[in-house]
Amino acid sequence: MSKRIAVLVSGGGTNLQALIDAQGRGELVNGRISAVISSTPDAFALERAKNAGIPGYVLPRWDFSDSRGYTAALTRLLRETVGADLVVMAGFMTILTEELFQAYPNAVINIHPSLIPSFCGVGCYGLHVHEKALEYGVKISGATVHFVTEECDAGPIILQKAAEVLPGDTPEVLQRRIMEQCEWKLLPQAVSLFCQDRLKVEGRAVRILDCL
Ligand code: GAR
Repeated sequence: MSKRIAVLVSGGGTNLQALIDAQGRGELVNGRISAVISSTPDAFALERAKNAGIPGYVLPRWDFSDSRGYTAALTRLLRETVGADLVVMAGFMTILTEELFQAYPNAVINIHPSLIPSFCGVGCYGLHVHEKALEYGVKISGATVHFVTEECDAGPIILQKAAEVLPGDTPEVLQRRIMEQCEWKLLPQAVSLFCQDRLKVEGRAVRILDCL
C-alpha cells in the first residue's frame, strides 16, 4: 500500500517543492505527500502545499511552553489526523523530543545542509551552517539526509552528496549551490527509497537494498 508522507516545514519550502515536483514526475515510488505541517503560520511552504492541493496544517511553536508539549501535539496530529507512515523534516526549525521518535521509529527523516558530522548540532541550521563552513575554510560541503533520533543531527545517515565551495562564495551563494546540486535531489531519492522499504538500519549505518 502507498505510504502516507507528512512533510514538516518552517520557511520557504524549496525542499518541499522538490518533493512535490518529484511526485509529479512519478518519482516518489509507493509514496504520496498527504500533509504539510508548519511551525509558523506565514511559511511560504504552506502556499506551495496549497498550490499542489496538499492539506496544510499550522501548529505554531509559540503556542506551547516547551518542546515536550509541542512534540506531543505534533505526534497526535501525525498519528490521529494525518495517519502518516513517514515524517519528513524539510527545513523544520524546531527541536522535537523522544515521543515522536518512539511513535515513529526509523520513520522520521531530516535534510541537513552539510556533510554530517561537520557543521551540525544544536544551533547549526539554515544559513548558519554555510557561514560556519566558510569560516572554517572547507573546500567541499554538501547535504545529508538522515534518520532522526533524540540526539540532534546524529541519526543514521541515509544519503550524502558533496558540492564544491568556490572562492568568493557568500553563505547565500553556497546555500543555493548546495540546494540545487545536493538537497533537491537527495531528499526525493531518500523518501522514495523509504517508501519502497529499501532502507535497512544496521546500527549506525543504513543499507540500501536493491529493487526486488
Ligand atoms: C535547507 O537548506 C535545509 O537543509 C535546512 O534549512 C533549509 C530550508 O530550506 N535545514 C536545516 O538546517 C535543518 N537543520 P527550504 O525551506 O527552502 O527547504
